[in-house]
Amino acid sequence: MGRGILIALGVVVIVMLGIVIAGGTTRGPVEQPIPFPHDVHAGTHQIPCLYCHSSAERSISAGIPSMEVCAGCHLPGGVPLVAADSPAVRVLTAYWNAGEQIPWVRVHKLPDHARFPHMLHVVAGLECQECHGPVETMAVMEQVESLNMGWCIQCHRESDARTDCFVCHY
Ligand code: HEC
Ligand code: HEC
Ligand code: HEC
Ligand code: HEC
Ligand code: HEC
Repeated sequence: MGRGILIALGVVVIVMLGIVIAGGTTRGPVEQPIPFPHDVHAGTHQIPCLYCHSSAERSISAGIPSMEVCAGCHLPGGVPLVAADSPAVRVLTAYWNAGEQIPWVRVHKLPDHARFPHMLHVVAGLECQECHGPVETMAVMEQVESLNMGWCIQCHRESDARTDCFVCHY
């Protein structure tokens, strides 16, 4: 084999490694059907993260709260109560009256070949903020970490969690 081919192969391998290590990007704010303020709920009013994302400690996904959870405070018994005059809460009331769930747009999303089990991380004692940043100060949700493979593996090495490929890949 000529040296040129070997060098070319080497370059391909280095580029591929670069893609694996640098893969994933942070995502800025996305347009939501209702502008939901985490700072007001989790900050000012100190509503615990698990009040709305209760499945984070028992299943793979953390889950987005259903309309019924919002209604429990904003529309108890179907009657507008908390912040009823705010334009955003009026949109909430309109969804409720139409009997519809709110079509939230997903912000964090790993590719299908990777799996991330929330419950194992929460049970291991990690705070939501270690991976999601200071959510209780966010007026608009933002992804603050790359969520790429290098990020996962770095913490797994530091915390003695497993790093074999099939732990995270299907
Ligand atoms: C009153 C209910 C409520 C509370 C309390 C709450 N959240 Fe949320 N959370 C939501 C809703 C609704 C969404 C979807 C809208 C959005 O992304 O802004 C969401 C979205 C998120 C997302 C992004 C989901 C995605 O699409 O990727 C993360 C991460 C998150 N919350 C973390 C937290 C953390 C951490 C806390 C506590 C500091 C918290 N939340 C407290 C209701 C809540
Ligand atoms: C545990 C009670 C509670 C739950 C559950 C809750 N909220 Fe709220 N929400 C509040 C309180 C308290 C305020 C602040 C009201 C104020 O400042 O007058 C608020 C404020 C808001 C505002 C801002 C209103 C404004 O314009 O200032 C929006 C929008 C909102 N909530 C939407 C939601 C949605 C959507 C859900 C469900 C995902 C939800 N809330 C769940 C208690 C709650
Ligand atoms: C070790 C890092 C880590 C911790 C700790 C963590 N998350 Fe996540 N979270 C992620 C990753 C990675 C994703 C994307 C998962 C995917 O796309 O499969 C995610 C996605 C989410 C989502 C949207 C998708 C879903 O799972 O429904 C919400 C909501 C969320 N996290 C909330 C929370 C809350 C609340 C806590 C604390 C109770 C928390 N997370 C703790 C890393 C973490
Ligand atoms: C901040 C630290 C941290 C980050 C970041 C992190 N993890 Fe973890 N992970 C842990 C810890 C701690 C455990 C629990 C280890 C245990 O219970 O033995 C764990 C466990 C796991 C497990 C279960 C392993 C098993 O033994 O079955 C999977 C799968 C996993 N993580 C995937 C991911 C993926 C995918 C990412 C990146 C998107 C990620 N983790 C990011 C700390 C982290
Ligand atoms: C702790 C979890 C974790 C472990 C362990 C892990 N990966 Fe990954 N890997 C991920 C995540 C999350 C992604 C998606 C984000 C990204 O592309 O960086 C990914 C992406 C990749 C990609 C990129 C695919 C693409 O679409 O670009 C390849 C290839 C890959 N992993 C191979 C491996 C191999 C081979 C191993 C074992 C040596 C391994 N992974 C171990 C979490 C992990």
